Amino acid sequence: MPTRKPNQLANPLKEGLVNRSAPDPCALVIFGASGDLTHRKLIPALYNLAADGALPPAISVIGFARREKTDESFRKEVEASVREFSRQTVSDGAWSGFASCLSYHRSAFDNPGGYESLARRLDELDAARGTCGNRIFYLAAAPDQFGVILENLRLSGLNRSAKGAWARVIVEKPFGTDLPSARCLNDLVGAAFPEKDTYRIDHYLGKETAQNIMVLRFANALFEAMWNARYIDHVQITASEPLGVEGRAGYYDKSGALRDMVQNHILQLLCLTAMEPPADLDADSIRDEKVKVLRSLRPLTGDDVFRHVVRGQYGAGAIDGRRVAAYRDEKNIDPESKTETYVALQINVDNWRWAGVPFFVRVGKRLPKGATEIAVHFKSVPPVLFKATGEAVDDNVLVIRIQPDEGVSLRMSAKMPGSSLRIEPVKMDFHYGTSFGKATPEAYERLLLDAMSGDPTLFARRDEVEEAWKFVDAIRGAWETRSDDIAFYSSGTWGPGEADELPKRHGAKWRRC
Ligand code: BG6
Repeated sequence: MPTRKPNQLANPLKEGLVNRSAPDPCALVIFGASGDLTHRKLIPALYNLAADGALPPAISVIGFARREKTDESFRKEVEASVREFSRQTVSDGAWSGFASCLSYHRSAFDNPGGYESLARRLDELDAARGTCGNRIFYLAAAPDQFGVILENLRLSGLNRSAKGAWARVIVEKPFGTDLPSARCLNDLVGAAFPEKDTYRIDHYLGKETAQNIMVLRFANALFEAMWNARYIDHVQITASEPLGVEGRAGYYDKSGALRDMVQNHILQLLCLTAMEPPADLDADSIRDEKVKVLRSLRPLTGDDVFRHVVRGQYGAGAIDGRRVAAYRDEKNIDPESKTETYVALQINVDNWRWAGVPFFVRVGKRLPKGATEIAVHFKSVPPVLFKATGEAVDDNVLVIRIQPDEGVSLRMSAKMPGSSLRIEPVKMDFHYGTSFGKATPEAYERLLLDAMSGDPTLFARRDEVEEAWKFVDAIRGAWETRSDDIAFYSSGTWGPGEADELPKRHGAKWRRC
């Protein structure tokens, strides 16, 4: 085994950014146990943690939902999902070990009796499994149920932990639909759980590559020294998906890309890219710096919205050679829907470091490929030395690939071998897969483990969520005054041509992902 000298720092990518304490024994109650999130993400994540031996030694997972089910039928049902969605192949031995911690509690969310019986059940599980009175309540139900669940947790006293134990709540996205509703939800959560025990999920923060942004910036003198308006021309953040609305019509048609992706995931990525170095790696030190970025965003209001934001909606087209329907023809979508499935915008961070550096953001569904990346475009070299040769010198671009093919690449210029001076762009490329030789865990695995360990660093704080809504609400306010600006694009293209104007005005163009 390689040994490390006593004063040598651990490689944070190998050993974790923060020295997290081991996850505590606990009972995890999932509200919305029959839902998609539980089946596709939460239970497979828990299974993978169990298979990797990462779960606490004592744990019980209780699915809470309205439908009639037994413990056994719940286990069978989620086993099928785990076999379909788990990132590792399911072994029968590992499954049966894990399945023994699963149980089901049937109740309507608004039935106080269901919470009283849950409390008794949790006490029994504490005695039988050694979960020590520690509880996590995971709100994975429909958002309009959050209020009633929180209220019942409070009234039943389940929000209060026994002496020496803890009670935490994890709240899934969407966290409100605008600033007033987010504030209201924050108040409801706050009435039941203190902020320190509140874990607001933004699963992008759990992605390994998003966590690496801070390491890349602050563990490499090379980048941080140049990470400012003096050297950076602009930044592009792209999140493109070939998927369409996929059976989520009810939610998505009311939400749209701005609320679904920009308010949370994209602004979080922007904060990690733009924030100042925190004083230390404490959760609040990091979140303080992210909030400062959100407070520095130049508000987009009135006519500026129509100049700096482009919204689009997908029409029919082809994805991977397969014909796909227009958004308005999707099942359960209003045929006159004005909901945006694409948004591109220019964001300015009005602080000392980023003065004059635009952040161009684009997100959309039914785009040609799935790719999330942050591309930092550096300024051009002065057009002096190579001018006479007539060779164009490409600018340096540092691309942080959040997914897929997670990694980082740097575009540089190099002389092509030969007797004449020809300059060509070349790439230095780091791939997680080959450099670390192990699969990157799913975001939910990391986030569940952090909640069990009491580490809120990768969760959004109340003020972050509210600041992000302020920015997004102003854009929506302007959108509500008209609807003739929605640009339609064919599925399988890179969105409406109008979006090209945004970087073009700055003398740039969208990167080909
Ligand atoms: C979710 C959005 O939060 O993130 C979805 O609601 C989107 O519309 C998804 O598809 C993207 O997540 P990922 O991890 O697949 O990039």
